[in-house]
Amino acid sequence: MGPSTVLLILLGYGGVSTASHKLQYFIAVTPAVNFTSVKLDGEQVEYYNSNITKVISNTAWTKNIDADVPDYRESVRARISGEHKDLQHRLSQAVGAANHTAAHTYQWMYGCELDDDGTARGSDQYGYDGEDFISLDVKAGVWKPAKKTYVTHKWDPDGHYALDQKRYLTEQNGLKKKCIDWLRMYVFYSNESLERKVRPEASLFQKHSSPEVVCHATGFFPKAVMISWQKDGEDVHEDVELRETLPNQDGSFQKRSILRVPAEELQKHTYTCVIQHSSLEKELVLPVSERRILRGRRNTFL
Ligand SMILES: *[C@@H]1O[C@H](CO)[C@@H](O)[C@H](O)[C@H]1NC(C)=O
Ligand SMILES: *[C@@H]1O[C@H](CO)[C@@H](O)[C@H](O)[C@H]1NC(C)=O
Ligand SMILES: *[C@@H]1O[C@H](CO)[C@@H](O)[C@H](O)[C@H]1NC(C)=O
Ligand SMILES: *[C@@H]1O[C@H](CO)[C@@H](O)[C@H](O)[C@H]1NC(C)=O
Repeated sequence: MGPSTVLLILLGYGGVSTASHKLQYFIAVTPAVNFTSVKLDGEQVEYYNSNITKVISNTAWTKNIDADVPDYRESVRARISGEHKDLQHRLSQAVGAANHTAAHTYQWMYGCELDDDGTARGSDQYGYDGEDFISLDVKAGVWKPAKKTYVTHKWDPDGHYALDQKRYLTEQNGLKKKCIDWLRMYVFYSNESLERKVRPEASLFQKHSSPEVVCHATGFFPKAVMISWQKDGEDVHEDVELRETLPNQDGSFQKRSILRVPAEELQKHTYTCVIQHSSLEKELVLPVSERRILRGRRNTFL
């Protein structure tokens, strides 16, 4: 089984969320790559991959955590790489694979859930070479091996690990940060009303010998944006194609509007593209006369 299959299995896991909030960690240690995905209410917040050795955010709001908690990303990274070691060590000991760990795949999915009334639940399960190995009955604090043949005395000889995990997943406001504390932090920072506004970067361009002028805004947050065209100060509605707003990798957005206009018209009149966004005190006005002209075949994506 290749790492991509493992990732598909990991990413396919996850239930339907209700009014409660849920934080989940999907972890894989494979011969090719070690990986952790962090999801809040089913959406990936951030991930770590041993090829990059960095925690990469998928949402714009983690910038606010970075600003408030200076060592936030480093503490996440340190915890994740510690967990990769622990997972590999514990599981390889349990299955007796200490001598050939490099050829195996270790998986771990854990998470916690918090209801509006304060009830906390946890889940904790482990896989080995693509098959379920063991899971924790979090409420009872006891292990449930996936197969009768799996011996668990090497896994958790004195039962301490089960109790540690139960506490980590369901307790809160402990001395150490626990799952529910992280969940609360993510829920707080993901609240859009707290979101800082991020300005769009704007550009105007035209493919050489095309009658289409493109006005492009990217990197902005929140999603709502207006892109319009003016001709000698008057709004233009004809021959305008406003494209859908698309998400960027980092949680910001991009959008483009395309104006079809003959070259003679551009010569005779003053055209501008106008961008309005909540991050801007004043609208952005881009004169079409200052557009970039793109030449060559490489711009076929336009
Ligand atoms: C990580 O790097 C290894 C070795 O270079 C490569 O085989 C693997 O596909 C990479 N995985 C990812 C997810 O980038
Ligand atoms: C994955 O993590 C294990 C345990 O820390 C380590 O031994 C191994 O080298 C790592 N693999 C990769 C591809 O980084
Ligand atoms: C690893 O393999 C060597 C030689 O095959 C053996 O002597 C040793 O006991 C093995 N170690 C473990 C932990 O299985
Ligand atoms: C988001 O923040 C606002 C303002 O602080 C607050 O009133 C609201 O309850 C928060 N929403 C959630 C889901 O936490």
